Amino acid sequence: EAFDVVVVGSCMTDLVSQAPRLPKAGETIHGHKFFIGFGGKGANQCIQAARMGAKTAMVCKVGKDFFGENYIQNFKDNGVSTEFVGQTVDSATGAASIIVNDAGENAIVIVAGANLLLGGEDLRRALPALSHAKVMVCQLEISPDTSLQALRLSHENNVKTIFNPAPAIPDLDPEFYRASDVFCCNESEAELLTGVAVASIEDAGRAGEELLRRGCSSVIITLGSRGCVVLSAHEPSSPSHHVPTKPVTTVDTTGAGDSFIGALAFYMAHFPTMSLEEMARRANQVAGVSVQTIGTQVSYPSKKDLPTDLF
Ligand code: RIB
Ligand code: NA
Repeated sequence: EAFDVVVVGSCMTDLVSQAPRLPKAGETIHGHKFFIGFGGKGANQCIQAARMGAKTAMVCKVGKDFFGENYIQNFKDNGVSTEFVGQTVDSATGAASIIVNDAGENAIVIVAGANLLLGGEDLRRALPALSHAKVMVCQLEISPDTSLQALRLSHENNVKTIFNPAPAIPDLDPEFYRASDVFCCNESEAELLTGVAVASIEDAGRAGEELLRRGCSSVIITLGSRGCVVLSAHEPSSPSHHVPTKPVTTVDTTGAGDSFIGALAFYMAHFPTMSLEEMARRANQVAGVSVQTIGTQVSYPSKKDLPTDLF
């Protein structure tokens, strides 16, 4: 059976505290709410694609512990195939400590744990799914070598690849760019990778051009409430296209980028001839829904919650 979207990536249990502001070093402050949720960039992206209606599989590793068991159930509840979800006794399920302030901004520490044990052997087992998917998505919360191997495998098999270099690492192997059909990052990741300071839409365009030069087929740089810029190597003469987004009331932006990428993966799988700008416009709208409520996956809309003109 062929999947629409296969994600090779991370699962994290999100431990979230809401507080008026982010604490300073050495400081203790009162928060007003604590909750535990399902997170991790890879799983977030997979869940958003599944909720849009994509047939999805997750390739990942969790611990043989309470959080890991719960996570597997979460995939099942969302209709994600768990055929390639491994469990290890050698490390704990990944965890993310998250603080969200009243402006909806966050600070996150991840302890990737079991995610770092996902490796070549796991990819070999998932090879039939990786080589027959419509779209394969990777990030950087697992070992970069594993992400690059997955991208390479899919790319060689003409599977469309989306690479989200998050969290960004300064010396990214140049092969990542060449194996990416869509290289999708936010402004701070673009800045770290290119050295171009990204403050404006024009800056984002310049950073995008540099990423294109490194060999990606297309680049999307997300800009939060300002939408995103889209660039394509197939139109070398035309500059970057800015795709604005409608203003919304922001409560929590955690995982909004993942919602965008999950939606993008769905559009690439279901509407392969749609322009990347139109896909980005629609994905902006999906992610815009997610920022209006607290939490990561719990705030991601399903097809039934979204306007029909998005499908
Ligand atoms: O992108 C948001 C995600 O980053 C959170 O769910 C958290 O788990 C961290 O991985
Ligand atoms: Na949210």
